[in-house]
Amino acid sequence: MTKCVLYLFACVAVATAHLCMISPPQRGSMLGINKKGADDCILLAGPCGGRAMGPAVALSKGQNFTVTFQKNLDHWVKATPGHFSVMFGVETMNLTELVRIPDMGQPSLSLFSVNITIPVVRPGKGYILQTQYVTMNPKAPPTFYQCGDIVVM
Ligand SMILES: *[C@@H]1O[C@H](CO)[C@@H](O)[C@H](O)[C@H]1NC(C)=O
Ligand SMILES: *[C@@H]1O[C@H](CO)[C@@H](O)[C@H](O)[C@H]1NC(C)=O
Ligand SMILES: *[C@@H]1O[C@H](CO)[C@@H](O)[C@H](O)[C@H]1NC(C)=O
Repeated sequence: MTKCVLYLFACVAVATAHLCMISPPQRGSMLGINKKGADDCILLAGPCGGRAMGPAVALSKGQNFTVTFQKNLDHWVKATPGHFSVMFGVETMNLTELVRIPDMGQPSLSLFSVNITIPVVRPGKGYILQTQYVTMNPKAPPTFYQCGDIVVM
């Protein structure tokens, strides 16, 4: 019985975890990200994991910006590889995918940096840059989310 419970716990621990966004800074805290399965990297509900809006990074429309995120725990499976998406828009509306990066099975804790251009939109508050880790792994949650708040100048 004890063994079963421990085994189940191990399964759950392995199946929970795994995307943090470093720049722009993700909403809320970003703690313990040198360790696989950090609590702050397990947001499973879109678009922003239920986290409240935080301080916004000011960017100009048409500006180039480097988004940096971390695969906190690897969920790659050879048969159905997933991907990472960087999305932009207003939290309450459909977001636009700016770039999609295939998951090539990089190890847990790998950092990814990708250049994007802020779309030409009406300047103002309320925009987000969102990263998604779409796992395509039947044994893992389908998608992990992170959002960073943006004010477009
Ligand atoms: C952004 O980067 C692209 C190349 O990826 C370049 O052509 C463009 O001039 C840059 N834009 C600005 C505003 O620096
Ligand atoms: C958002 O996307 C869904 C599915 O593609 C679509 O049905 C819906 O009309 C879109 N909403 C807006 C506001 O564009
Ligand atoms: C990304 O942008 C930086 C400048 O901010 C540039 O040095 C770098 O070459 C770009 N990388 C790619 C892959 O375009």
